[in-house]
Amino acid sequence: MCGIVAAAATDNVVPVLIEGLKKLEYRGYDSAGLAVLGAEGLERRRALGRVAELCARCEGLAASTGIAHTRWATHGAPAEHNAHPHISAGLAVVHNGIIENYEALKAELLAQGYQFSSETDTETIAHLIAASLKIQPDLAEAVRLTCQRLKGAYAIAVVAEAQPGRVVVAREGSPLLLGVGERGYYAASDTSALLQVTRQVIYLENGDLADLRPDSLVIRRIQGEAGEAVSRPVVLSQLSADAVELGQYRHYMQKEIFEQPEALANTLEMVGGAKSVQPGLFGAEAARLLDQADSVLILACGTSSHAGMVARYWIESIAGLPVTVEIASEYRYRESVPNPRQLVVAISQSGETADTQAALRHARDQGQPLTLAICNVAESAIVRESALRFITRAGPEIGVASTKAFTTQLAALFLLTLVLAKLRGRLSEADEAAHLQAMRHLPVAVQKVLALEPEIAAWARRFANKQHALFLGRGRHYPIALEGALKLKEISYIHAEAYPAGELKHGPLALVDREMPVIAVAPNDHLLEKLKSNLQEVRARGGELFVFADQGCQLPADDADGVHVLALPEHYGPLSPILHVVPLQLLSYHAALIKGTDVDKPRNLAKSVTVE
Ligand code: G6P
Repeated sequence: MCGIVAAAATDNVVPVLIEGLKKLEYRGYDSAGLAVLGAEGLERRRALGRVAELCARCEGLAASTGIAHTRWATHGAPAEHNAHPHISAGLAVVHNGIIENYEALKAELLAQGYQFSSETDTETIAHLIAASLKIQPDLAEAVRLTCQRLKGAYAIAVVAEAQPGRVVVAREGSPLLLGVGERGYYAASDTSALLQVTRQVIYLENGDLADLRPDSLVIRRIQGEAGEAVSRPVVLSQLSADAVELGQYRHYMQKEIFEQPEALANTLEMVGGAKSVQPGLFGAEAARLLDQADSVLILACGTSSHAGMVARYWIESIAGLPVTVEIASEYRYRESVPNPRQLVVAISQSGETADTQAALRHARDQGQPLTLAICNVAESAIVRESALRFITRAGPEIGVASTKAFTTQLAALFLLTLVLAKLRGRLSEADEAAHLQAMRHLPVAVQKVLALEPEIAAWARRFANKQHALFLGRGRHYPIALEGALKLKEISYIHAEAYPAGELKHGPLALVDREMPVIAVAPNDHLLEKLKSNLQEVRARGGELFVFADQGCQLPADDADGVHVLALPEHYGPLSPILHVVPLQLLSYHAALIKGTDVDKPRNLAKSVTVE
């Protein structure tokens, strides 16, 4: 993934680059580095680990032009010599993405005598630009010629000692936007890095190259002989600087868990006080396009795929449409049978996940034009490439482990369920009004669940020292068990698996003993009695049970005997998964606190996975 920041301004940009990197650390944090054109010419600083390490190495550094990078390692281990920027003949490059043909390009450059000091694909770009500069002395043109030779995904920023006061950036596949500031032009992987200097941004299109100087900006197309000049609109970002500050919280994940009532309220704002739900929520063409759908294919990765799995239960039972949920990285390479009447729903917090984007394109290229994006970032690639869209209003999610994005995705998917059901004549007016009423009550209901935090923190103390955990759920709460297990793995590094409770006897029961905590999601629904039997199977084998029940579940706790039960404040019908995931988020958060892990930046992970 990686994050990029660049600046060509009239004042010292080193603090801007550092601050920008801090905001982009969620994209990767294996190493950080910057290169500036200062009084001493090209100066580079790099550090393994976090931006704070880099900051310590930048004392006294000042320059008005520079590029910076925070890395999530793909090619080459996390090590200082692999940290960006990479240098060749007085020029420096930072890169986000993967160059697929880098081996062939590297062989060519080695044959020409270029020496490599890293194992990265990025160093190839630096040498290629250096080689181009020998033929074409203009930096922007040399970068453009180089980009024409690159296959794969990239967002790059380049500075050259011989051409001070200038930064050249380009993108194909990976995200990159520009900032129009009072003292210069800036570039970054996302808006949050630039809010410190401006809210006026320009979204570059794939295949755009921009030449930034303190007082001028030129955007051109990479392809074509002359590189046609293009103009892109300046838009005012709606993101507020406060939204990306930690405020009173200790971690972004904690902040984001507690922001869920507000995030849900904002997402549901467009439903207002209405007693009916309109297809127009999903775009101007929604009524016509959704009406054609004879089935649904949901494509997503990670937590977003769990939202899709919950939606399968909703859409099939309420709207009566068959639903398939596929992990995007599998679907994109599978030989599937295209169905032009199938609604393809891509779910993604970032809207930039490479596999989800590629899966969406794959579906479209196979002749499936009915596409819908459910995303948290309005300007993202996945939104732009879909016929229909629903933007969740969770606000920026910084913690790598997704929380508020998930619950708002679920809210959006429930609205989709209602719209599909209505279009198919399967929703009575009374049911529609009742469902909408329940949705409007969600923020309050989630707030009540959050109040259980002290009890959940006490539970976390009981199992934070365990090596493994088993999560059980049934029906639409099975994906919630999956999400609980994923959260625990991601941030507390406890190995966790989730099973549909009915599968227990087909394998995982063999693992159950006193050392294996079993966490059960036990809503008061038609599967409760079945689940109770499954829990008996665990108790009979000495397993310690942690049960998140609903009111009235009649699951007596016996703490001394290893049966712990916490009742959620309300029973919530079909929307219950939105409530039941919240205690699991809090449980993993508190287990991670006890273990002392880096909650917002768990090892080896990153938030926006813009590479394959
Ligand atoms: C990464 C993140 C997860 C996220 C997944 C999909 O793995 O760490 O939190 O669920 O990507 O991301 P998306 O932005 O497509 O929802």
